[in-house]
Amino acid sequence: MMRHEILLMSAAISFFCVSAFANPAGEPAAANAKPGTGKPAQATPDNASLQREIEQLKRQVKQLQPDITEAMLGLQIRHARLWFAGESGDWTLAAFQVHGLQDGLEGIVDTYPEHAALQPERLGDILPAMMGAPMKTLRAAVDNKNKAEFERAFDGVSAACTGCHAVAGFTFLQIHRPKTPLLDNLSGTSVAISAAK
Ligand code: HEC
Repeated sequence: MMRHEILLMSAAISFFCVSAFANPAGEPAAANAKPGTGKPAQATPDNASLQREIEQLKRQVKQLQPDITEAMLGLQIRHARLWFAGESGDWTLAAFQVHGLQDGLEGIVDTYPEHAALQPERLGDILPAMMGAPMKTLRAAVDNKNKAEFERAFDGVSAACTGCHAVAGFTFLQIHRPKTPLLDNLSGTSVAISAAK
């Protein structure tokens, strides 16, 4: 479980406490005394301090989220690796990268559904609408182990990435086929075997 998920959970638990112990009538704490015992009930944190704690936890969760730029750099690496895997006919590695790309996209939707760059559109709606079909075509091409199909589908995904950048006002962020592998320290089975020969 990631740290921000743990914090979100504790925020949810605090919220539960507020709901469970809130004193809707706003009566003084002494009114919580157990009747007949004369003893005050166990001290319950007041509504306002729990509310403050929740706000603080929310701020911490926000600070723990990496910037969307980091997530985009992750997509860029996956996107580039996918190209070279497909071009070398390494379909196992290509399938792995498609999976990673899909995970990355889903993570972005979950983390930044209302990102400011896409307003007044919702990132949570725009991203699946723009990437869904091209990603599906790409997955099918990799499953079919068909290079020509793969290249066309890869260009379709790149165009969709660029399309979203345009909607977000970053028309200069153009995504296309890479020419040079920046990282060449990862290979799938077929490449590793040929390199070992
Ligand atoms: C929801 C729309 C959306 C989609 C889909 C999208 N991006 Fe982005 N991307 C953005 C936004 C917004 C930024 C600018 C982030 C910022 O503020 O720095 C960005 C920035 C980038 C950057 C520049 C990062 C940097 O700082 O150098 C890269 C690279 C990138 N995206 C790659 C991709 C790739 C590859 C895909 C497709 C697999 C993709 N993006 C899909 C919205 C999107």
